[in-house]
Amino acid sequence: MNIRDINHVVYRHRDLDEVERFMTDFGLVRASRTEHQLYMRGAGPVPYAYVAEQAESPEFVAVAFAVERAEDLSLARTLPGASAVESLQGPGGGHAVTLHDPAGRRVQLVHGIEPVASLPMRPALNLNSATLKRRFGEVQRPPRAPAQVLRLGHIALGVSNLRACLDWYTQTLGLLPSDFVVDESDKSDPHAAFLRLNRGDEWTDHHTVALFQSAADHVHHASFEVQDFDAQLHGNAWLSSQGWSPVWGVGRHVLGSQIFDYWRDPSGNVVEHFTDGDLYQRDSPLGYTPASDDSLYQWGPSMTVEHFLGSALTTR
Ligand SMILES: [Fe+2]
Repeated sequence: MNIRDINHVVYRHRDLDEVERFMTDFGLVRASRTEHQLYMRGAGPVPYAYVAEQAESPEFVAVAFAVERAEDLSLARTLPGASAVESLQGPGGGHAVTLHDPAGRRVQLVHGIEPVASLPMRPALNLNSATLKRRFGEVQRPPRAPAQVLRLGHIALGVSNLRACLDWYTQTLGLLPSDFVVDESDKSDPHAAFLRLNRGDEWTDHHTVALFQSAADHVHHASFEVQDFDAQLHGNAWLSSQGWSPVWGVGRHVLGSQIFDYWRDPSGNVVEHFTDGDLYQRDSPLGYTPASDDSLYQWGPSMTVEHFLGSALTTR
């Protein structure tokens, strides 16, 4: 299987108006809306990164990954429990095959969604550090606004059987492990696994899927990339000013090094802004990190692994 990238996530919400208001403040832009479905996009060429469906009970529906070739869908439909190749209804059309991971979660493989023109995005700021000056005679005035989202970057899953999910995401989807969080005494039995795309010599995000061992299967968070550190802090201030609920941030992770900021959507799901993540390629080495609160962040508001992993379960 040749996965090109993560494409979009699908959630159900009771109130589409409310989730659109949140996601707009979060930095996504409406791509299309009907009475029962809302498609939101980032500034990049993917026509939608987030789908909200109107339903009585809020729930996570699916995560979708774009495959490189149409033949990958033909291959996918031969896998155990795979659906037929179905047409997608959203902007840009395309086709999908639905699989289920060992936790029973719907994982869609999609292909043929027509890209759209990118939206103008504030250029990355030209920063002056103490020893490296790059901006001369120009001022910094990024606008006070939501942090513009470029794209969906990764999904983090709490899983009751990490080994089974790790095997499935690496063997069926072909993802590669970047980092394992382990007990020093037994490196073969990770508490958490960070998996990236196999893009050969191309550089790709340190993780596109993160798996955390958990008492119950759930989606911990979906994470969206913003331009830079200023965008993170402007986004944090904007979401705060609009009355939304912060979860944790702004800080910098250890594994993947992203600057992070977590928020809760109106149904209680956790979503993340990230920027400045590490890039890996096929041959980057697998890392092992001892399990501890120090494996979670370099700096940021105080947090424990236990509280962080439980944060996605508290309000559902
Ligand atoms: Fe994340």
